[in-house]
Amino acid sequence: MKVVIVGSGVAATAHARVAVAHPGLQLVGIVETTRGSSAESTKPRLADYVEETLKGERPATFSSLAAALSDSDVDVVAVCTPSGTHADHAEQALAADKHVVIEKPIDVDLARARRLSALADEARTRGIVVSVISQHRFDPANAAISRAISAGRFGQLTSATASIAWWRDQDYYDSGDWRGTWQFDGGALLNQGVQAIDLLVHFLGTPVEVFGRTARLTHTDMEAEDVGGAVITFENGAIATLLATTSARPHVGARVQVHGTEGSAISARDQLEYFFAADAHPAGSSVYQGANQALNEVSANDVPGGFVDLDLFSGHLRQYEDILEAIHTGREPGVTVSDALTVLALVRAVYVSQTLGVQVDFADVVAGGYDDVVAVTGQPALTAVSSPADPIAKVSV
Ligand SMILES: NC(=O)c1ccc[n+]([C@@H]2O[C@H](COP(=O)([O-])OP(=O)(O)OC[C@H]3O[C@@H](n4cnc5c(N)ncnc54)[C@H](O)[C@@H]3O)[C@@H](O)[C@H]2O)c1
Repeated sequence: MKVVIVGSGVAATAHARVAVAHPGLQLVGIVETTRGSSAESTKPRLADYVEETLKGERPATFSSLAAALSDSDVDVVAVCTPSGTHADHAEQALAADKHVVIEKPIDVDLARARRLSALADEARTRGIVVSVISQHRFDPANAAISRAISAGRFGQLTSATASIAWWRDQDYYDSGDWRGTWQFDGGALLNQGVQAIDLLVHFLGTPVEVFGRTARLTHTDMEAEDVGGAVITFENGAIATLLATTSARPHVGARVQVHGTEGSAISARDQLEYFFAADAHPAGSSVYQGANQALNEVSANDVPGGFVDLDLFSGHLRQYEDILEAIHTGREPGVTVSDALTVLALVRAVYVSQTLGVQVDFADVVAGGYDDVVAVTGQPALTAVSSPADPIAKVSV
């Protein structure tokens, strides 16, 4: 499969590494522009990196996707540009009948993502595969949890919690003029949080109601939130809490916990920190009922304390394996456009909830009922107010 990568920044580098390393892929082109990243002019061009550092065949470079599509023989387009450009680039690639791999999130705009979803469904009938990167779904820890849930091993799922506590200083947001903007990025929820949110939905199913809060607490120059939280109710009645922040020094990491009547699991920093399923200890068994069975489900490399896989690109490699299999066999990819649309709608529901100050019906968000709401980040100031008539301090937001 001949691959063209659109973009030449951080994510594009991961895709280039996979395309050079994977025997089923050939990196034939890179669309390199100077737009979007102030740090870019000082970085070596990605084509140089591929040739000199990765020792790959030098890919052609193009100044636009249109030029790449008309000049080279391409099978797969990998969209690695700022999030607000994803759907437009993917549409362009689909119009040329190419398979498309889109970096997360699907886009920042729900209407554009909805249109792309319809186009991807239509392209599917012609054998075209579109998938959105959510590489942590393919981590052995998260795959083990997903398998257990599908097999019913956790019984009735009752609750979950996802927290993404990262540290990103103002220099990070200044490193690209798109970062932290509503038009191209969103904040901690839509950029850093989106993969854990994908896991939450993957594990628990369709959300029903969302109540969210966001705030910009520590960054002086970004539009969207650096802290966001929500309470989400799912179709089966399960309740989840969500927290995403880029104001947690020193980068505490991502953690997803899921709980059911017959078992629970914790995935932390991509490793299986805890796993328990009652079926491994049938009634009458003398083994302690809360014993951590993580090592029965994944290898020692994938539990904390084991050897930590430091290769940040292994998730992308695993997801490309899945996408290639989908292309070759005609099955659905592990992460579909529809999955990614649900995740974007969930983040959008948090933004709408914050902006309007109400609990939001998730189906209404998906259907476009709130498309005209202009998201506003919550204000950080909590003011303690006391008056002689009411000596008990009240908090007003
Ligand atoms: N899956 C992951 O782990 C992961 C990691 C990092 C980034 N990402 C995602 O990848 C995307 C890019 O992030 P990044 O960190 O690589 O950004 P970046 O700023 O490092 O790179 C963005 C690239 O896009 C190019 N660009 C900007 N505007 C463009 C346009 N209109 N047309 C064509 N090219 C354009 C820039 O020149 C640059 O090469 C984002 O959507 C981000 O969420 C995913």
